[in-house]
Amino acid sequence: MMVSRSATFIAGVLALALPLTANGFVVPPPDNLQAFLERPGNVNPSSNPIPTEDEAAFTRPSWFTSALMARRLLALSPSGVISTTFPESLSAHDPKDIAGLSIGLREYIADCDSSLPSDLSHDDNGDPTILGLRIGTTFKNIAAGSNLSLQLDWWDHLNEAGPVYPGLPLSAAALPRVTLFGYLEHLPSPLPHDAAAALEKCFLEPHPDAKVWLPGASYSPHASFWARLVVTHAYWIGGFGDVQQIGWLNLTEWQGIRPHGSVEGVGDGRGWQDIRLPGEKL
Ligand SMILES: *[C@@H]1O[C@H](CO)[C@@H](O)[C@H](O)[C@H]1NC(C)=O
Ligand SMILES: *[C@@H]1O[C@H](CO)[C@@H](O)[C@H](O)[C@H]1NC(C)=O
Repeated sequence: MMVSRSATFIAGVLALALPLTANGFVVPPPDNLQAFLERPGNVNPSSNPIPTEDEAAFTRPSWFTSALMARRLLALSPSGVISTTFPESLSAHDPKDIAGLSIGLREYIADCDSSLPSDLSHDDNGDPTILGLRIGTTFKNIAAGSNLSLQLDWWDHLNEAGPVYPGLPLSAAALPRVTLFGYLEHLPSPLPHDAAAALEKCFLEPHPDAKVWLPGASYSPHASFWARLVVTHAYWIGGFGDVQQIGWLNLTEWQGIRPHGSVEGVGDGRGWQDIRLPGEKL
């Protein structure tokens, strides 16, 4: 479990019957927290009961709700950190001993699959759209055979989200993040005119500056290409493990969620537009 002992420790005191907010976050009543802070001996986690799995699970959003939050996080994320590894054969400019080292670099992304025509889209299944630059380290490593993952998080929203436990300091560690594993698939080049126009409209909304290096732009300083990350695994950290899920998302659920509802056989009728991330207004 990727949770600090102290988070679990706090949860041990607060775990029972906490109200779930609409966005899936748990808000312990302030009275409980005060009582907890004033109890003698509370500085030593080992002297406090740790909640059983059943008690803790009672306070967490379901895995499907977590998948909804993860798909919303993708939909609202304009960028994410792509991790790749340096290949064995490096350019003369690179230090000799970096082969095999991993490097995480923030890249522009957008959840634009649904803007593609049906013969080119993956039916809005959560495969992020990426505008790759051939000169970029991320894309050179991938071209040389590197695996990749894409990490998204909600940490910029700390001030709106407020503290998980009222009275405690703000904690970015309590906010959601998801890491998507998979492979990069190039979209056909050039894209049919209508498809290119639709994709550009969607992608340039969060990234108006990227107009300069769109694929085929004659004035672009760098050659670029459209691609998608075909997601094969999704690892979710909802926040502190006592009040959020941590682990592998069900890929069928990840792929089946739509803005409103989901594909047949998945979920409970809700889509990612029916949920809010910490600090968002309903
Ligand atoms: C990429 O990951 C696969 C496992 O999914 C592994 O077999 C392969 O060796 C990895 N490739 C590199 C270049 O590390
Ligand atoms: C994943 O979700 C689908 C759809 O709800 C379900 O049929 C399947 O059993 C789930 N898989 C696992 C491993 O839980």
